Amino acid sequence: RVTPDVVVAVDGPAAAGKTTTCVALADRFRLGYLESGRTYRVIAFEALRRGVPTGDRENLVALCDELLHESRDQDLLTSERYQAADLRSPSVNVAVSDVARVDELRKRVTQLVRLWAQRQVRCIIEGRDIGTVVFPSASIKFYLTASPEVRALRRLEQERRGSYEDVLKDVIRRDRADMSRTVSPLVPADDAITIDTTELTLNEVLGQMSSVCERSVTFS
Ligand code: DC
Repeated sequence: RVTPDVVVAVDGPAAAGKTTTCVALADRFRLGYLESGRTYRVIAFEALRRGVPTGDRENLVALCDELLHESRDQDLLTSERYQAADLRSPSVNVAVSDVARVDELRKRVTQLVRLWAQRQVRCIIEGRDIGTVVFPSASIKFYLTASPEVRALRRLEQERRGSYEDVLKDVIRRDRADMSRTVSPLVPADDAITIDTTELTLNEVLGQMSSVCERSVTFS
């Protein structure tokens, strides 16, 4: 199989609810689920751990190749070796924006995601560039967003770490980094269905996404 029968792409800014909704849809429609941002986080985490400055593109790429070699490729996407708390620490949150700017790293991660998808029949993948770059021909594309204030509040409730002001500052900083980078910046795909979740409950968002999936011919 060159591509899966169904790819659902879910893109959007930090803390827009991508992971929560993807996990629920994956369960409901029996889709393989992949969180592509995790791989960028693993590279950032290892760079910090091994003392590779995150502004040093060449050494970041070398580190990535070393990790790919060590993990026999696919592992890097799904490895259980990393704790969620380590990958979501404030220092990784900052370093990952540097990592995500490096074109050569993005190419490698894109390749890994495509290889993973080839082994799925139906899948849902979340990230920043899934509908625009990784799978421009995805069956269904969602772009989830919400106001920075609401996203910061939700993140705070979920992680219970830091002050509202600090979390909001980090959300705004990452929006800027994700949207303004020159390679694969965060933008909705032309054919994406944008859902602004600012005023919606999780169940309302899931209801909208599920009915799009149910209506899609690719799901029948
Ligand atoms: O989804 P996340 O917050 O865990 O992603 C971490 C970082 O990785 C995010 O700040 C931007 C980057 N990322 C990306 O550039 N492209 C993707 N497809 C997924 C994540």
